[in-house]
Formats: sequence, C-alpha cells, structure tokens
Amino acid sequence: MKLSETNITGQIDTEEINISNFLNDVLTGLRQHPKQLQSKYFYDQRGDQLFQDIMGMPEYYLTRCEMDIFENRTADIAFGIQADNTPFDLIELGAGDASKSMHLLRHLKDLETDFRYMPIDISGNILAVLNEKLDKEVPGLDIVSLEGEYFEMLHKASQLSSRRKVILFLGSNIGNMELEEAYRFCFELRKNLNKGDVVMIGFDLKKEPNTILNAYNDKEGVTASFNLNLLERINKELDADFEVGKFEHFETYDPITGACRSYLISLEDQTVSISDAVFHFEANEPVYMEVSQKFSMEDTHKMAVQSGFKAVHSIMDSREWFVDVFWTAL
Ligand code: AVJ
Repeated sequence: MKLSETNITGQIDTEEINISNFLNDVLTGLRQHPKQLQSKYFYDQRGDQLFQDIMGMPEYYLTRCEMDIFENRTADIAFGIQADNTPFDLIELGAGDASKSMHLLRHLKDLETDFRYMPIDISGNILAVLNEKLDKEVPGLDIVSLEGEYFEMLHKASQLSSRRKVILFLGSNIGNMELEEAYRFCFELRKNLNKGDVVMIGFDLKKEPNTILNAYNDKEGVTASFNLNLLERINKELDADFEVGKFEHFETYDPITGACRSYLISLEDQTVSISDAVFHFEANEPVYMEVSQKFSMEDTHKMAVQSGFKAVHSIMDSREWFVDVFWTAL
C-alpha cells in the first residue's frame, strides 16, 4: 500500500524563477575572468541521459565502486544509519535515478523499518523517472519527492516532519564543489540538522592519477558531449547562438590537490549572443565547467570535524577507491 506520494513544486511561477536564475548565473559566470559555467546546470533531459551513459562507461569506475558497497554491504549501511533505532526521514540529496540507494530502500523495507524516503533533485525530469521506477521496484515505499535546490528542499522537509533525519549525499556529488564550498556546505548542512542526525556521504578517493583522468576523459567523447550539452541547453533555454562545434572539451587532474577539472576551449575567435548580452571568446580561451574533487580519508575526517560532525563509521569498496562515510551531528 502506498501511504503518500506528493510532489512539492513550490509556487506557481517556479519555472520562470528558475529560468531567470539560470540566465543570471550564466551571464555572471561568463562575465568573469576566467569565464565559467556551473555544472549543476548540466542536468536537463539530454544531460540526465548523458550522465546515465557516463555511469555505464567502463572508464567511469565511481558508479561500480559505490554500487559494490550498496549491493554487498547493505546491512552494514543499515547499521551506519542506525536503521534499527527510531523512525526517520531518509533524505537523499541529488537522488538522480537512485540506482544505488534503491538497494538500501529495499533492504529497509524488508526489515519493516519505519521510514519515509525523500529524494531531492534539481531535475524534475529525473524525479519523475525515479518515482515510476520505485513504484515498481520497491512497492509500498512511503515517498515524497522534492524538486529544487538542496537547502530550500531540506528546509521544506523539516517543515513536513520532526522525525530524526538521515541524509544521503552519494556518488561523490560533494566533489562538484570547490573544497571551500564543500566545507561551507557541510557546515550549513549541520545547521539544518539536530544533534544525533546522521549523514552518509560518498567521497571518491585519491588514486592512480590516470585512472581518475580517464574517467573524465573517455575516448568515446561522452564526457565531452556532457559538457557541450550545457551550451546547447543555453541555446535552447536562453535564446543564445553558441556554435557548439567551435568548442572542445579539455580535462585535467592535479594529483596534489585532488581536483579533476573540465574546461571547454574556444577553438577560434568568436562572438556569442545570449538573450540581450554579447560575449567575445578568444581563440584557445578556456571556459571552466566543472570540478570533481578527490579526497584522502584524512581529508574527509577533517571536513567532519570542522563542520560539527563526528565520523563514526565508513565503508569502502573492495579496491578501496571510494568511501561512504557516516557522520553524526554533534
Ligand atoms: C555527478 C558529480 C558524481 O563529478 O563524477 C561525471 C559528474 N562529470 N563525469 C562526477 C560527472 C563528468 C559526476 N557527479
């Protein structure tokens, strides 16, 4: 039996607000030196599809690492989130298609755990896909999906119930923030929780540098298309005229800082208009697109301590390439 299925989309004019935020962020980013765009905008319908394709690539090891953890260590995860304790809200930030957390959801359901699943994602498209999938895969699951930015939706979630919270932030999504931003994010996350609440975060670990670089620089060019798709999205949604063929994807990994960064390089001198604005790109000028930060175990501990959490448990995949950590709010 389904207990509830609600889709909370906020005010009626959410879409208009979203478009003007998008335009604002694009214009602001391209006015900067060096120019930059935000990777959170990668995920329109085509971007969702391309990311699914990335997850299926042999080079993109991250998915299989965390899948290994979710498939083979499910009981250990349930222990980490203190599933046998009191009823809770299981909130997943950037849930996507929940291909990993689904294993946990099924396990919790089998244990007859009292919980409600609340996936948060910026892509309404993927949430619709997810709802349909969970309906079939985990029948009877109590699910409330929240479309929007993490903290706005987290706030909404806490208005909906006062049960203890378990936050999932998987897939190295945290890696898409600059380090300083990730620290601030964890601090902010802590402020939105109560003492004793649990967070489970997936960190991709530092490893052999070429393994990392190849995961973001595949030979088939899927990652290139994923980056270039943002230009297509800007064309479609913001009345722009990027000639996508005049940009090329370029990837770097710095084994010291652990930052894997992608850029789009302008192949020639060119002018692009976006709504009423005009931008000039020099030949070989880079546009900074995305960071996928890699961590050491020590890096993650430091982050826990500095943001008001206590690291209580962690689970690695068999190759020790990826870690899911469990922190409790102090
Ligand atoms: C969705 C943030 C986990 O950074 O590994 C994959 C996005 N970008 N290939 C990552 C991504 C290029 C991905 N995350």
